[in-house]
Amino acid sequence: MSTVSPEATSKVARGLEGVVAAATQLSDVRGNEGKLVYRGYDINDLAEHSTFEETVDLLWYGTLPTRDLLNKLTTKLSAARPLPHEVLEGMELLPKYASPMDVLRSVVSILGVHDPDGVSNSVSANVRKSIRLTAQIPTIIASWHNISKGRKPIAPRFDLSHAANFLYMLDGKEPTAEAARILDIALILHMDHGLNASTFVARSIASTESDMYSAISGAIGALKGPLHGGANEAVMKMLVQLGDISKVEPYAKETLASKGKISGFGHRIYRTNDPRALQLRRIAGDLAKHSGNTKWYDMSEKMRDVMARERPNIYVNVDFYSASVYYTLGIPIDLFTPIFAISRVAGWTAHVMEQLMDNRIMRPESLYTGPQDQKYVPIEQRS
Ligand SMILES: CC(C)(COP(=O)(O)OP(=O)(O)OC[C@H]1O[C@@H](n2cnc3c(N)ncnc32)[C@H](O)[C@@H]1OP(=O)(O)O)[C@@H](O)C(=O)NCCC(=O)NCCS
Repeated sequence: MSTVSPEATSKVARGLEGVVAAATQLSDVRGNEGKLVYRGYDINDLAEHSTFEETVDLLWYGTLPTRDLLNKLTTKLSAARPLPHEVLEGMELLPKYASPMDVLRSVVSILGVHDPDGVSNSVSANVRKSIRLTAQIPTIIASWHNISKGRKPIAPRFDLSHAANFLYMLDGKEPTAEAARILDIALILHMDHGLNASTFVARSIASTESDMYSAISGAIGALKGPLHGGANEAVMKMLVQLGDISKVEPYAKETLASKGKISGFGHRIYRTNDPRALQLRRIAGDLAKHSGNTKWYDMSEKMRDVMARERPNIYVNVDFYSASVYYTLGIPIDLFTPIFAISRVAGWTAHVMEQLMDNRIMRPESLYTGPQDQKYVPIEQRS
């Protein structure tokens, strides 16, 4: 019998809601205002004017770079794109049915064994590892996309931007400037978001003075879940399964009536529109118009209308419109969450480095609610 009082149980911060577990200078999620800020810069400003590479520079080094500094980082990032050949050969041995997120988590772990900086936690080693991880994650994902289909991986190009090179490595075709810029903006929008679940995992692992690769493999595992980054794939699977705009409202009403959740809606922090979702909604609308295929956007808009009526306090989140954006760009659904990782790794690595600058091991407490005063019974006497 548990002797824990309801008062003690009520003190448990379920899901760590309201707990402030780290101070950060990286991003500020203002849930009531619907604002997201990276190092003092509004996400909307960055999405309009910046690039993935420039925003990574801002996040890692603290200020918007000069042209010279940006060129240096861009050159380092593009030079680090190829994977060690042993790693590529190892990927060929994985079962072809393995999901891209599982492969990504496993290959990042293997890369840690190959990294010349090993488990060093010096600042300069961690900067170099952050560059390699950020550069190589797109190569892992695109390589697996081809290997899993029995094709040869496509070597990265060094002359393309981070976003354009990823799209190029999927099918060997240089993407249009429009497609590359859309992905570039999506990568800016997903880069950092306070102490979200995967970032918390990364910081917790870093807090034990483990190593960067352990922290990032753990974070990838956390991102994969459908309540976190896995939601963008769940959104698109839902839309494809519904197949027609007429099915959206009945599905939403039935799901809500049975207390189910609709992927791409709701957030722990935002009490108003998620600013990233507003940006992606605009992009999804423009892309639908330009591509001549408005089906997925129209279905998304319908779902949003129904939710606004049925659950006015639950808003769309970043994963809702990113789904139809990626799909309309021709990206396979099982690469949606890996694309989230392509961006978020810049945030994870920044957080690992920040954690180590003023580290204390993460060690929250738990409330024991199990039985007390049990006496050991020999196995022969147990029924
Ligand atoms: C993001 C999320 C995990 C936040 O979880 P949380 O802060 O723990 O919030 P809860 O799950 O406790 O939800 C609070 C209430 O809103 C409801 N709710 C939250 N998200 C909902 C959704 N997507 N659809 C329907 N109802 C939802 C819950 O059912 C709950 O209702 P109740 O109080 O009547 O039980 C949650 O909103 C969710 O599961 N969303 C769908 C998955 C998703 O899109 N994840 C990506 C996040 S960026």
